[in-house]
Amino acid sequence: MTDSRKRIYIQEVAPRDGFQNEKNFIETHEKIDFINRLSESGFAKIEATSFTSPKAIPALKDADMVMHEIKRNPGVVYTVLVPNARGAERALSCNVDEVNLVMSVSETHNQANLRMTREQSFTQLSNVIDVVRDTDVAINVSLSTAFGCPMEGDINTYELFELIDRFVQLGAHGVTLCDTTGMAYPTQVAKIAKQSKDLFKQVELTMHFHNTRGMALANTTAAIHAGIDRFDASLGGLGGCPYAPGASGNVCTEELVHMLELMGYDTGVDLEKILSISGRLPQMIGHDVPSQILKAGPRTRLHPAP
Ligand code: COA
Ligand code: ZN
Repeated sequence: MTDSRKRIYIQEVAPRDGFQNEKNFIETHEKIDFINRLSESGFAKIEATSFTSPKAIPALKDADMVMHEIKRNPGVVYTVLVPNARGAERALSCNVDEVNLVMSVSETHNQANLRMTREQSFTQLSNVIDVVRDTDVAINVSLSTAFGCPMEGDINTYELFELIDRFVQLGAHGVTLCDTTGMAYPTQVAKIAKQSKDLFKQVELTMHFHNTRGMALANTTAAIHAGIDRFDASLGGLGGCPYAPGASGNVCTEELVHMLELMGYDTGVDLEKILSISGRLPQMIGHDVPSQILKAGPRTRLHPAP
């Protein structure tokens, strides 16, 4: 029997976007075990770590070890965040499938997060692309604050599309529009998603929503109706941006999968499996996680009458 449901690709980012913000260091073997479990859960892509400066992001200083030791599932694309050419060399030596480059659409946020102007970032990321271009490693660019900046407010979508275009010209295969601090809202998402699809037909587009203001699931459905089929999500709803005021919580993977499967989409992800992985997160990171599905259970889990 063939599955006629529409496929939605889910990309798990907790090992990077989630763990980078944790105050208590998560032991390397725990990270490896966590990623190995994710690898058996049906994700299209896993953002496993970042090859940043260990001084900037001490939580992920074990990136090389993690990438060498995880058990790869050939059906999963393993991507890593890379900030500069040095990071790219490290990533290539670990045989990653994809590098994920990050900069902001907002000048102010870029300076706060990366301590560079946007043009300096663009130059640095061009150097990364030069290192990676002639390999078979894919290049994705994640653009922070694509739906608004916590300091500047609205961003100019013309600047967003221009930036995407410049990276595509350089050879980027994929682009992720990140709502880094929960500024996006559904009607805005629908418009930007549709324009992006129309302008960049050959580009693998991903949406990366944060639930900072409770709109991440609503934004997801708006994006799907506009033709987007790839979403980043973080188990337990972990994540945030270390330099963005009040930023918290990526869209929670189990909430996203639970909703999409109920709506008749095929996410490929095994909800029971990810719930059991998510259930161990509080013990692993030392605090509660914002997942509603972990608290309430899936809709199919009925309770005895009182
Ligand atoms: N991997 C390992 N070490 C690195 C590195 C990399 N990719 N890039 C820089 N370093 C080291 C340098 O060797 C240097 O070490 P030293 O002090 O022992 O000599 C130190 O980091 C500073 O290097 P410098 O070139 O001056 O970089 P910087 O301090 O300007 O840092 C970044 C620039 C972007 C590399 C750093 O700020 C960073 O990694 N930020 C992470 C941003 C991020 O991931 N944010 C969250 C994503 S939204
Ligand atoms: Zn994020």
